Amino acid sequence: MHHFNYRDDELHCEEVPLARIADEVGTPVYVYSQATLVRHYHAFDQAFEGLDHLVCYSVKACSNISLIRLFSDLGGGSDIVSGGELFRALRAGVPASRIVYSGVGKTPDEIRQALDADILMFNVESPQELTTLNRIASDLGRTARIALRVNPDVDAKTHPYISTGLKKNKFGIAHENALAEYRRAMSLPGLEVVGIDCHIGSQLTEVGPFVDAVGRLKDLLDALRTEGMAIRYLDLGGGLGITYEAEEPPQPAEYAGAVREALAGLDVTLILEPGRVIVGNAAVFLTRVLYTKQTELKRFVIVDGAMNDLLRPTLYGSFHGIEPVRRKEGPRARVDVVGPICETGDFLARDRDLPGVEAGDLLAVMSAGAYGFSMSSNYNSRRKAAEVLVNGRGFHVIRRREIYEDLLRGEEIPAHIERGG
Ligand code: LLP
Repeated sequence: MHHFNYRDDELHCEEVPLARIADEVGTPVYVYSQATLVRHYHAFDQAFEGLDHLVCYSVKACSNISLIRLFSDLGGGSDIVSGGELFRALRAGVPASRIVYSGVGKTPDEIRQALDADILMFNVESPQELTTLNRIASDLGRTARIALRVNPDVDAKTHPYISTGLKKNKFGIAHENALAEYRRAMSLPGLEVVGIDCHIGSQLTEVGPFVDAVGRLKDLLDALRTEGMAIRYLDLGGGLGITYEAEEPPQPAEYAGAVREALAGLDVTLILEPGRVIVGNAAVFLTRVLYTKQTELKRFVIVDGAMNDLLRPTLYGSFHGIEPVRRKEGPRARVDVVGPICETGDFLARDRDLPGVEAGDLLAVMSAGAYGFSMSSNYNSRRKAAEVLVNGRGFHVIRRREIYEDLLRGEEIPAHIERGG
């Protein structure tokens, strides 16, 4: 359920016509619905009611500080994977006691930054990281609360680029080596073992793999407790999928029900790291048609948004619905919706049946909230799009469109080149 609907044939976000946002802010632009964000957060959080749990919103899905702040105000924390995301979360006002940090390549600086902030937990992904974390924490006279990110070797049955819980993936510590690494962690003075973590992948459309993962972690948890380790947290990562086209992922309540059952009787605080399921369907990417072009083989709709703005179709072959902002009747034509970038891979949709689209029309690329803006780049020296948050009848620019000077920020011409030698 989201708040993007037609009224009098005009696509609205909540009470605001998208055409008004395009007129006032320009295109391309990401438009988020606050009511949808809040609704999705609550649906997820409330599904776990009665279980001791903490929802740590996965900042990478959409990193705008307004969204991070919104979820923090609703009682959530943040799941981060870099020093930059830690900076954002802290700047947004998330209490450090609600921040968990995953990632296979945490740098010493990032580790120091997170220790200084005193975050809730590091999800450690390799034996060498464990050693480094211990050394840095000891040098700083601190103790790092840790979980090991365990790779349970379960198949998430999702796109190979976003499957993370298989033996062949770079993530986590193999399930069979986890006990030995936990024992080592216990012996290291700079570390306090407090949890177990896993994240098996993203855009999962079945509960089975989650249940399998919990089963494997539960055995490990029993073993760790038998050895006297005080495991307080079980972090299940994120990964619950959404409907882009015809997928029928479990609803949060079904997911929570399955997890609840699998966890039965375990005395732990559950940590969840949802990203996509909260923000995915809470935004559209709004773009304007520049030209249409009929070639011998195809009809192209050339828009002002491109793969630098929304990479998912290009990178994963992902489907995003495309809706005309002003509803049109009449025959549909099969088109490719493409951007201005100099690559054949620059498309938002291929072989899509759209009603007669013309230059000047606005199109809404649906379900663009997760991994949309956050994966955007400046390729072709395109300025990053604006982001707008709609709240009822009003809207706010929560990130202004970049200006040309932003493109050059930090660049300089060294003197020897400037002199012409
Ligand atoms: N926790 C960890 C450790 C993660 O690596 C991720 C996502 C999440 C939580 C959140 O997962 P979610 O609930 O959003 O599925 N760019 C890809 C998705 C990459 C996901 C990376 N990790 C896409 O556009 O589909």
